[in-house]
Amino acid sequence: MDNDGLPGRRERLTRRSLLVGIGAAGGAGAMYAAMGVLGLAPSKETAPVRPTGGAELPAPYVPPQPSDFSLRGGSPAKVLVLGAGVAGLACAYELGKAGYDCTVVEARDRVGGRSLTLRGGDAVTELPAGTAAIGETQRVAFGAGTYFNAGPARIAQWMVTLDYCRELGVPLEVFVNNNASAYVLTAGMKAPVRARTARADAYGYISELLAKATDAGALDAELTGPDKERLLDFLSEFGEIGQARGYTGGERRGYRVNPGVGPGAPLGPPPSLTEILSQGLGRMLTMDAGYDQAMPMFQPVGGMDAIVRALAGQVGAGRIRTGTRVTRITNRPEGVEVAVEGGAPLKADYCVAALPPHLLAKIPGNLGADVRSALATPVPLSAGKLGLEYGRRWWEIEDRVYGGATETDLDVGHIWYPSYGFHTERGLVVGYYNTGGDAEAYNALSHRERLHRALVQGRKVHGGRYGRDLLSSISVAWRRQPHIEGSWVRWPSMSGLSLLQRPAGRVYFAGDWLTHLIAWQAGAFESARKVVTELHHRVLKEG
Ligand code: ALA
Repeated sequence: MDNDGLPGRRERLTRRSLLVGIGAAGGAGAMYAAMGVLGLAPSKETAPVRPTGGAELPAPYVPPQPSDFSLRGGSPAKVLVLGAGVAGLACAYELGKAGYDCTVVEARDRVGGRSLTLRGGDAVTELPAGTAAIGETQRVAFGAGTYFNAGPARIAQWMVTLDYCRELGVPLEVFVNNNASAYVLTAGMKAPVRARTARADAYGYISELLAKATDAGALDAELTGPDKERLLDFLSEFGEIGQARGYTGGERRGYRVNPGVGPGAPLGPPPSLTEILSQGLGRMLTMDAGYDQAMPMFQPVGGMDAIVRALAGQVGAGRIRTGTRVTRITNRPEGVEVAVEGGAPLKADYCVAALPPHLLAKIPGNLGADVRSALATPVPLSAGKLGLEYGRRWWEIEDRVYGGATETDLDVGHIWYPSYGFHTERGLVVGYYNTGGDAEAYNALSHRERLHRALVQGRKVHGGRYGRDLLSSISVAWRRQPHIEGSWVRWPSMSGLSLLQRPAGRVYFAGDWLTHLIAWQAGAFESARKVVTELHHRVLKEG
């Protein structure tokens, strides 16, 4: 019994203080190893056998805790967090667990940054294009229950974002990232086809070619006799080519009349090999083969901003100053001073700058020429999305498409069908999600022009019904969003990344742009955890 009356407290504290000390000196790896010694982490011998292809479990993240100070002395510091996007809010949330006095400063009038979910009553104002003096403001006129994730919209099951959803009690549902019944349309195609049909034809003909090459001995230098047999067995399944080694189409292509009481009417024979090869389907058929795009993927019920709202709720409204633009960041020997527009300078022991790098690079201060140059290195990119609210879910009723995406090489890029509200009256189709030059072309237009252009393109997939039953629409050009000015960034060279992964004096940097998970909320969370761990260790060490 310890003097606080709780049995075993001394033992717990002693173990913990040892681990904190080891972690501060040797980093997470050393701490994890020490946890193994103390029997707190699975050892190699006890670790379960993992199938190949799965990632190693990361060293466990240990959030700062108030008891860290009771063990080591010192007290939680005062921290200014610049930016109330996912990275900034996650830093304030994690530091807050140990009682750090955090203030989050945000230039926009809402939290979340790019994690933006739009609903009826919201307004979206853009920076002016070209020589225009003011940017356009769109008012969102969606009905109750309709929302549009204008920024992040999908979460892969291996991402830390899901751990935050669990911790914060944010309910999830499946985001349908791939749908065999959705369409593909490329410049090489006369008309859209269902994804299942395109895939069946591509796999079928590739299998036929490979089987013929194998039979003709063209692969004899690569394959033993038994290998050839195994390959032919595989191809017969993979491409549905049977023993005849010829692709003639089959049930995988789909049906003109679905089977039911009757046998149904299959779609019929495939187009020629030449036609299939000219369709340019590579990207269209492999979208969900990406490690970060494979099904099942997830979304928070009711809108992606449930995550940032939960984080902001934990941080506390009183600690978040929206509508406050940072104008100068100054490192001083004893702390950090941050000047803001229209208010007295803010002072703290440390600062976490969780703003986009291209905007941070323009804020004056004394971070140093090398830091400024590194901040100016990542190139902000363009992406845009258009939300189309329909009063009738024709894609479910007539196309039998429930969620997922139509992949195109048109300038609209991807067309998404909603993964929520199945069978309700209204529904939100993403009329375009495009990037690069296509996004820049749409960015330069007014909303009306974007809408017109996207409807012309969408009709190529869905015909006349694409324009009917449309109730309202909204578009977001991320390059023209105030205080964000980019969808995400690209590092032309990685030089500068490691410099910014370290603090500049008392100023730390956080964001997806400092990770290998750019354009994912998970990148922002991972970066936040790294900064919080390092800052906390420094505070514990320096008192
Ligand atoms: N993470 C972004 C997406 O899924 C790029 O589209």
